[in-house]
Amino acid sequence: MAGKMARDKAKRKSVHQARPSARKAPAKAKKAPAKARKAPAKTKKAPAKAKKAPAKVKKAPAKAKKAPAKASLRLPKPKGPLKVIRKIADMKKFIREARSRGRRIALVPTMGFLHDGHVSLIHEARRQASLVVVSVFVNPMQFGPQEDLDRYPRDFSGDRRKIASAGASVLFCPDVAEMYPEGFQTAVEVTDVSRDLCGASRPGHFRGVTTVVAKLCLLVQPDVALFGEKDYQQLIIIRRMVRDLGLDIQVVGMPTVREEDGLAMSSRNTYLSPSQRQQALALSRGLRKARKLCESGERDAAELAAVVVDILREQRDLEIEYVAVCHPETLERVQEVEREAVLLVACRVGETRLIDNIRLTTRKK
Ligand code: PAJ
Repeated sequence: MAGKMARDKAKRKSVHQARPSARKAPAKAKKAPAKARKAPAKTKKAPAKAKKAPAKVKKAPAKAKKAPAKASLRLPKPKGPLKVIRKIADMKKFIREARSRGRRIALVPTMGFLHDGHVSLIHEARRQASLVVVSVFVNPMQFGPQEDLDRYPRDFSGDRRKIASAGASVLFCPDVAEMYPEGFQTAVEVTDVSRDLCGASRPGHFRGVTTVVAKLCLLVQPDVALFGEKDYQQLIIIRRMVRDLGLDIQVVGMPTVREEDGLAMSSRNTYLSPSQRQQALALSRGLRKARKLCESGERDAAELAAVVVDILREQRDLEIEYVAVCHPETLERVQEVEREAVLLVACRVGETRLIDNIRLTTRKK
């Protein structure tokens, strides 16, 4: 009996910290039309040895307050209807004027198909600035050739309505052709912190994210930009980029907004069949169980990850990409939870890629 338990434990442990192998995309995935994808020309490989980011980043990610997504805000709504801006030149002109009037500007970048997670960012943006710009741009540069760019869900009129009622002033929705003009070959890349986790299974993804976010920041010149902790690695990468480029932008991270049953809201949840959606609950259930275990004294990262793996493995259509316990700022994998860590998971449920994460703390709340 004891021998079997030890063997089980060893088997479970072996999954933890396993690096995701770049997974072959399902043969079924449709090819995107050449035009849509043409945008980012292949740029040369990043310098082979970029300097290692300092292991300890001093500033902790700003603790975001919990914002009830649906609560109506007692903040003045912008005067006049939501302004929809499609052209880069018009956006620049609008920002020039707003800046000359001393407005504090917040940017909420999105890829549209908004849900309450996005809305919570807009609400917080209104608390932080007098002028809120929400961008809706399905960014081809961050999708791999076999990924879901073509079928990424879109609902422009729904987004427009939600953005207006959340109290933003501007919806910025540029064209792909304007964001990536003919011959485009420039990229912004954050190296070390983009490599592991989602970076390992989605090569080039974060390079696409940082390039578009940098471009949006240059256009909108926000004082503050808001991102969700749901995409934890993305948030950390953007903080790094803003520091490295010396941008005067405060990056605010907001807590993950969940469905009542715990599933992290995501535009991609719409792909899930009822049975897959049920199985997807294993992500948040596993994370919560690991957090409880950590709060009750378990410090061993492999043990904590194994608890999640066990729950995920019970699901028929679920394939684990990674389960990792990482330092909350550097995202380096840790062996033990010292005070704080973040437990991150990525899975495929059927064809749908889902991610989630939770903070682990050794202090009982
Ligand atoms: P998108 O997936 O549309 O997400 C836009 C923003 O909403 C991101 O900052 C994301 O972390 C946040 N968000 C998504 N789901 C959330 C949830 N359940 N709770 C709280 N926040 C949530 O992330 C992107 O777009 C793109 O990569 C982008 C940054 C716009 C660059 O193209």
